[in-house]
Amino acid sequence: MAIFPIRKFGDPVLRLETKPVIEIDDVVRTLVADMIETMYDAPGVGLAANQIGITKRIAVFDAHDELGARVMINPEILEIAGEIEFEEGCLSVPGHYWEITRPGFARVRALDLEGKEVEYVGEGLLGRVLQHEIEHLDGRLLLDAMPKRMRKRALKELRDEELGLT
Ligand code: NI
Repeated sequence: MAIFPIRKFGDPVLRLETKPVIEIDDVVRTLVADMIETMYDAPGVGLAANQIGITKRIAVFDAHDELGARVMINPEILEIAGEIEFEEGCLSVPGHYWEITRPGFARVRALDLEGKEVEYVGEGLLGRVLQHEIEHLDGRLLLDAMPKRMRKRALKELRDEELGLT
């Protein structure tokens, strides 16, 4: 197993739409094990493959429940509902947290490591992490989930940090 460096905001790979997995083979199984190790090492509650530079439609997450680490391969959102305001961060934008309003409930269809179709259904942390990781796989970041003015402020914050102004 291996821990990968996590790509940070500004890295173009985070803006790429990932490609569906055609075959779940040993390469994919090793990648998933490495992604879980990298997520726990960070530590974080979710990690998408493009966050370690691999443009496959795979994400892992651990929503702090009894099920532990889970994987979603080729996930699609079937349903989102409700609205919840929650402090949200991202391993690709380390050290920053924003109060982001988004649907609280999500239902997702994906494949597991055996290639079996699974559904993940949840709200709260689970609902949010499902949406956040699938956004990564679509080349989006949490800044895109913000209203325009909030995004402008967040971008300024990140720019100031990059310039060493904070
Ligand atoms: Ni993230």
